[in-house]
Order: sequence, then C-alpha cells, then structure tokens
Amino acid sequence: MTDLHIFKDKDALSEAAAQLVVETARSAIKENGRFLIALSGGGTPARMFHLLAQPPYVKQIPWAQTHVFWGDERLVPPDDPGSNYGQAARLLLNHVPIPAENIHRAKGELDGKMAVADYTAQLRQLAEPGRAWPRFDLAVMGLGSDGHTASLFPGPIPEAETRVPVMAVTADYDGRPAQRITLTPLVFNDARHVLFLVMGENKAEAVTAIRHAPYQPQKWPAQRIKPGNGRLIWYLDEAAASLH
Ligand code: 6PG
Repeated sequence: MTDLHIFKDKDALSEAAAQLVVETARSAIKENGRFLIALSGGGTPARMFHLLAQPPYVKQIPWAQTHVFWGDERLVPPDDPGSNYGQAARLLLNHVPIPAENIHRAKGELDGKMAVADYTAQLRQLAEPGRAWPRFDLAVMGLGSDGHTASLFPGPIPEAETRVPVMAVTADYDGRPAQRITLTPLVFNDARHVLFLVMGENKAEAVTAIRHAPYQPQKWPAQRIKPGNGRLIWYLDEAAASLH
C-alpha cells in the first residue's frame, strides 16, 4: 500500500516526518517491545533529526527501546563531515537518552569488506530468530535527483543485492564520498514502513518517474523499493511534487 503526502515546505514536511517517527515508535514498542529505525543520510532528514531532539518529540519516543541503524553509510570515519552517522549524532543522537548499545553504526572507518561483515553481524544480532536481519519498523529513505536511494545507484544491478543484506558500493554523486556500504532491497522491502522524504525541484523528475514510469530498476533504483508486507509512504514538498 502506498501513501502520498505533499507538504508546502521543508518545515511542514519535517514536522510531519517527526510525528510519523513518534507514532511508528510507539506502536512498534507497544506491539514488539522495541522500535527499529534505519536512517538515511544526505541533507533532507536534517531538519527532522533536529526536531526529534526537541520537545515535544524528544519526550514522546521511548529511547531505551529504540534501535538506530543506517540505510547506508559512506566509508569515512565517524567524525568525517561526510559520515551519515556523524550527521545523525550531531543533530539527534548526542541529544537524546538513547543507550549507546542501541546505536548500530556502520563502521565507515573500515574498508568495504570489513564494514560489510561487521554491519551484517550487527543486523543478525537484532534479527528475529532464524533470520539474518531484523524487520525494520521504519526505514527512512532519501532520493537523489538521479533516482538513487540509500546507495542503490543507477546502472547494472549488483547480483549481490538479491542475496545479501549489506553490500559495498562505489558511486559518484554530488561530490560525496564515493565508497559506501548499503542495505539492500532484501532488508528495505522487509520493513513494516518505508518513508521516502523528498524535497526540492531537482527531485521532481525522479519522483514522477519512480512512481509512474514503467519499471526500469536500472534507471530508477528507488523503484526497487517495494515493501512486500509493509507501507510505502512518500512525503514530498510541493517542489518535489511539482511534476506530479
Ligand atoms: C547518502 C544518502 C542518500 C541520500 C540521497 C539524497 O548517503 O547520501 O543516504 O541516499 O538520501 O542522496 O540526498 P539529499 O537529501 O542530500 O538530497
């Protein structure tokens, strides 16, 4: 099932996204005793991270039962400006009472192979019995103007992505760190809720293509995100929805 919500600007979208994180957290903890969220990198979620660290949201999330992962991470040290963990720590995690052991950082300081192995092991630790990765309650996804999401980029689809939960990727986008690791659609499509946060005119073509063009997963990687037994939710600002 797909939900589409269009907001007038970044503030309205970020407030709504923070509210959805709270609601998803509370229902997950009520149902399963824990809340597993995978965060995205890039600039779009920054305002939402900031809001989640402030009243009213900060007190509405049971942080002790919340576990944070990342949908992808750049292979840079955690204190590097390009680190997705670093951004979330600066804006959110350093300001909330989440136990350190609930922060499951992809270790960008390692090389790709080691980082994949380490992150795969972290996923397995939180997985339900007999599974290699947990069902995320919420996967927050960004979208590049080229239609990538997490670190699933246009071009030939890596055979690994249908076999393993985490893979190493090299990608050239927007001058950002090229060496990355990413969760694969195996994990994203297993999530209970997948939330795309997309803002800006430069994303409008990708949004429309991904949602309405024929299935071309090499051209529009975000089309590979189709939760089999979960809700796919799009939060767009008016600029990103302008070609809708
Ligand atoms: C990353 C992100 C990536 C991001 C998109 C959109 O590591 O860069 O996970 O998938 O979400 O590139 O980035 P913006 O939000 O900055 O447009």
